[in-house]
Parts: sequence; structure tokens; C-alpha cells
Amino acid sequence: ISKSHGVKGLSEMGLKALPKQYIQPLEERITTMNVVATTNPGEYIPIIDMSNSDDPKVAEAICNAAEKWGFFQLVNHGVPIEELENVMEATHRFFELPAEKKTKYSVEHSASKNVRFGTSFSPHAEKALEWKDWLSLFYVSEDEASAFWPPACKAEVLEYMKKTDILTKQILEMLMKRLNVEELDQEKEHLLMGSKRINLNYYPVCPNPELTVGVGRHSDVSTLTILLQDHIGGLYVRGTDKESWVHVPPVKGSLVINIGDALQIMSNGRYKSIEHRVAANGCKNRISVPIFVNPRPSDLIAPLPEVLASGEKAVYKQVLYSDYVRHFFRKAHDGKGTIDFAK
Ligand code: SIN
Ligand code: FE2
Repeated sequence: ISKSHGVKGLSEMGLKALPKQYIQPLEERITTMNVVATTNPGEYIPIIDMSNSDDPKVAEAICNAAEKWGFFQLVNHGVPIEELENVMEATHRFFELPAEKKTKYSVEHSASKNVRFGTSFSPHAEKALEWKDWLSLFYVSEDEASAFWPPACKAEVLEYMKKTDILTKQILEMLMKRLNVEELDQEKEHLLMGSKRINLNYYPVCPNPELTVGVGRHSDVSTLTILLQDHIGGLYVRGTDKESWVHVPPVKGSLVINIGDALQIMSNGRYKSIEHRVAANGCKNRISVPIFVNPRPSDLIAPLPEVLASGEKAVYKQVLYSDYVRHFFRKAHDGKGTIDFAK
């Protein structure tokens, strides 16, 4: 049942106890033991106001956050709040569909390899499953999306993706400037943002949330991730001491941005792709919508020549991006394990 109906199906059966496949080993469970306590949302992970995006202070704050935390939140980012609300509503609409309308998009049934509905992360590779259902959409073209993406959400998702494009480019230009890349020419633009994937994530109410996770520890394989989360909370980021966990508090109208492995590699380790995870929740359903801004699958990624120009030694070797991604999905979530593939 869990495979075809997802954990939402399990949640709605009114289970009193968590099925044992979802019980995580002690060391992977999320407890309050090493969570950093704060009441001020911007105290650790910076909240950056982009209303004056030409002000050099904005670029400075973004680059500093990318170096130190690998994560930041943006407010007044130029993507209309209405678009954020529309895509969250569309996400709920998709997951509220009857099971058979969603399993149409599962790996066994989907008419396009770019459209997938699934549960957990990589169930075939996991010792313990994760408490999450997802729809993953790899963007190829407007026509492909029109033909194959679920009607329940496609218009809103496409519109939202389009509206985030300017922001993505703005952030990448700022980050590149600090690396002495003065201009995003077409070649650089392809390398940094040549392909895109959007996920709709659903974390239903969980019996015994303390025994499992919504998402296990991992870093993203993207260049950048642009994450929209609802008001529930539960995303934790590894603190700068590499031991503690810092909550990313939901801020209405904000977007959470994080650096992915591809940019850590291209910046030769200057920008950090930080481990993060999501807790399961015992009372509330949670949704999130990340856009993974990626190189193209056929791109070779390596530390950028501009970064190495001053004689810095390359920390990473060149890898084919599609190989890198395949390596990520072949194994269970394992913290920062994927990046070893480029060492
Ligand atoms: C993820 O990092 O995989 C999900 C993030 C979230 O749901 O907040
Ligand atoms: Fe992630």
C-alpha cells in the first residue's frame, strides 16, 4: 500500500503506530538534543531584503551567507506573493487527488520519464524509509509540460517557474561576481542554470514523528535550490560548528535559497552546499516546493577557471553532471556523501 498510495494514504488510514519500515536508526532521528534554540528568525540563517537589489550591500549579504551558511532567506525578492500562494494551492490540489490519479505518474505508469510521483527518497536503496510523498517534474519545454504534467497543478507550476527565472539569474550573477566571473554569457548561463527540476513535496501527519524523518540528512546536487515552504516548519540546516542543527523558520512570503553541490564544486569549495533534513510532524501536514536549478545533464562540472586563475589548487575533479546526479539517486540519503564522487 505505501508504495502505491504513498505515506499520505498511510496517514489517512489513521494508523496508531509508525510502520516499522519507517523507523530510523537512533542517530538519524531528529531530537531537540542538538537543535540550536532561538526566538529571532534571522539570528543564524540570514534573512535578506532584496527590495534594493542594486545596492551592493545586498550582493555582499548573499555572497557572505553562501560562504558561511550555504542557506539564506529572501524577502521582497520580486516573485509575487500571489504566485507563491497559487503554487502551494496547486500542490495541495495534486496531493488531494484520489490515489489512482496520482499513481498514473508513478515510475511504473508515467507516460513521461520527466514526470514522477513517488514516496520516500530512493526506496530501493533505503534501509529505513522517509515519511514523504513527492511529485518531481523535470522541465524540458513548455510543450512537453503541457502534454505530460498533471492538469491539477501544471499551469500554476509553470507560471511559478517562469516568475523565479529573473531572481535565479540575479542571485547567480551576484555569486559569480565574487568569483571574478564578470558576466553570465550564454555558456556560463547554461552551465549554471541550463536545466531545472521542480518538486512538490507532501509530508502528511505522522504517528510517532520522533521515530522517523521527513527527509534524511543530505545536501542538494543542484547549483542553487529555490525553496518555497509553507507555515508549518521542520527544515533544519547543519550549523557552522558542523554538529548542531538550525531551524529554518517559515517567514511569510519568503523564499529559502541554498547552494547545491554543483556550485560548491564550481566555486572550488568557496560556496557551501550544506547538509539539511526535515522532521516529520505529529499534528500538521506540511508542503514544500523546491526548484532545483542545475547544470545540463551533459555538462562537465569542475572548479571554474576564474576561481583557479590566482593559482588555487582544484579541490574537485571534473565530472559529468548526469553521472553525479545518478550517483546521488542510487544511494540512500547519506549526508554530504555524494560530493566524494568529485574528489
Ligand atoms: C529537501 O531538502 O529535500 C526538502 C526541503 C523541505 O521540504 O523543506
Ligand atoms: Fe534538499
